[in-house]
Amino acid sequence: MRVVVTAGPTREYLDPVRFLSNPSTGKMGFAVARAAAERGHDVTLIAGPVSLKTPKGVRRVDVTSARDMERAVKAALCGAGESDALIATAAVADWRPAMCAKRKLKKSQMESVLKLARNPDILKGAKGVRKVGFAAETDNILAEAARKCREKRLEFVVANDVGEAGCGFGTDTNRVSFVSADGSVESLPLMGKLAVARRIVRRLEGR
Ligand code: PMT
Repeated sequence: MRVVVTAGPTREYLDPVRFLSNPSTGKMGFAVARAAAERGHDVTLIAGPVSLKTPKGVRRVDVTSARDMERAVKAALCGAGESDALIATAAVADWRPAMCAKRKLKKSQMESVLKLARNPDILKGAKGVRKVGFAAETDNILAEAARKCREKRLEFVVANDVGEAGCGFGTDTNRVSFVSADGSVESLPLMGKLAVARRIVRRLEGR
């Protein structure tokens, strides 16, 4: 299978020295890329700004913003078909500053200048491939994951409670549930991110 994995945060600059982002470290996405490569798949990892080593046998493309990530995903999926997959682990910023100033903004300018624009939904926009998404939630986790699964036409969603200790952003472990569009749920115990990643890849292969 040709597998494209997105990982890490995106950065949305408002001037040369400031940006909107989130605490994703890329650990979950890099583990997914490693697990897929271990199983012999052809893996392209599209990574936001993180400081992790590229897993062995993985082709890596570094990006900064959500729009860069969207372009890189489209290029990597060019020619891909129903037997290929996109696994979207990245924490993509949903919003960006409507304008990025060329020079550092003065503090006094901030409130009048800072307007937001919606970023593209990369996963929702990807067509013609099998898709697995993640859902980072703190409330109504399973219901939100099922909604995302239907709305983004995913095979399944990996739901994680980012408010729980040992889960989500920056941790070496995660506790996830696989949620399908029909609402069926498989919940895993707390485990290392690589072990979670291996379960994701096996589940995709088995479907
Ligand atoms: O990187 P780590 O520190 O290891 O942390 C891991 C993680 C918490 C980032 C990861 O486990 C996780 O939950 N990733 C998804 C985070 C997220 O943005 O979830 P969401 O519920 O907002 O988005 C739903 C899905 O749509 C995700 O697959 C996301 O990649 C995708 N998406 C979202 C917005 C957007 N504009 N484009 C997208 O492709």
